[in-house]
Amino acid sequence: MPTTEDQIRQTLVQYFQTDQLLGLKEVPIRLPQPRATAPHATGMAQTTRETQTAAEVGGKSERLRLLDEKQVKTCTKCALSQTRTNTVFGQGNPDARLVFVGEAPGFYEDRQGVVFVGRAGELLTRMIVAMGLTREQVYICNVLKCRPPNNRDPAPNEIAACSPYLFEQLSVIEPEVIVALGAPAAKTLLQTTQSIGRLRGQFHNFHCSGVEGVGPATPLMPTYHPAYLLRNQAQKAKVWSDLQAVMRQIGLPLPK
Ligand code: URA
Ligand code: SF4
Repeated sequence: MPTTEDQIRQTLVQYFQTDQLLGLKEVPIRLPQPRATAPHATGMAQTTRETQTAAEVGGKSERLRLLDEKQVKTCTKCALSQTRTNTVFGQGNPDARLVFVGEAPGFYEDRQGVVFVGRAGELLTRMIVAMGLTREQVYICNVLKCRPPNNRDPAPNEIAACSPYLFEQLSVIEPEVIVALGAPAAKTLLQTTQSIGRLRGQFHNFHCSGVEGVGPATPLMPTYHPAYLLRNQAQKAKVWSDLQAVMRQIGLPLPK
């Protein structure tokens, strides 16, 4: 587990890299924050490019595009870069109210460069549809952007290298709710070692600074991964109950 200082430093360094690609000359003085107050809402006239936040300068789509095209696609920060076919950045609506975070690309995702397209992906798509949504309305991504060989568990050094991309994605999208699919996503986002069985079923506070108490919190619901559900059908009711709590949180109508 990285220290608080490491986590803050890594999150900031990642954020500033995209700032530079956007042409920002100066460092914004605050940490990336979800639901940042727009300048006009605070009554502060902000006119120069240098004093705007990066998301305001480039817009969410442009910032995500630069993160994917200029940083993730060419990334060699861990050894998975040597075995991947394609990086898998994520997919969906940059303005999504709801973001799903999985573990890592599998065989088909690596082949196609698209998130959640294998069997687990088909189940995730059905879960999203059951919530009354489409894949295009939400945003879907993973902790790791490259496939671990034979779909082995992500290694701690790979999570440490890759998670700043995820933290930036989440701070750009500013979702109202996050669903963490499976243990690696829940543990990475909540910086905890608790088991998914313990974590699931209730909302936790996610801080996109990566640090408890730094920046506002986004409600995060951990639940079981769809790949685990495919092997353990008995857990389906628990996942559906978790997703219904998410639907309630964002005001989606519940089925009778
Ligand atoms: N499992 C994941 O966690 N992510 C994918 O993209 C596919 C399978
Ligand atoms: Fe880079 Fe992440 Fe791929 Fe490792 S898994 S090479 S950190 S994009």
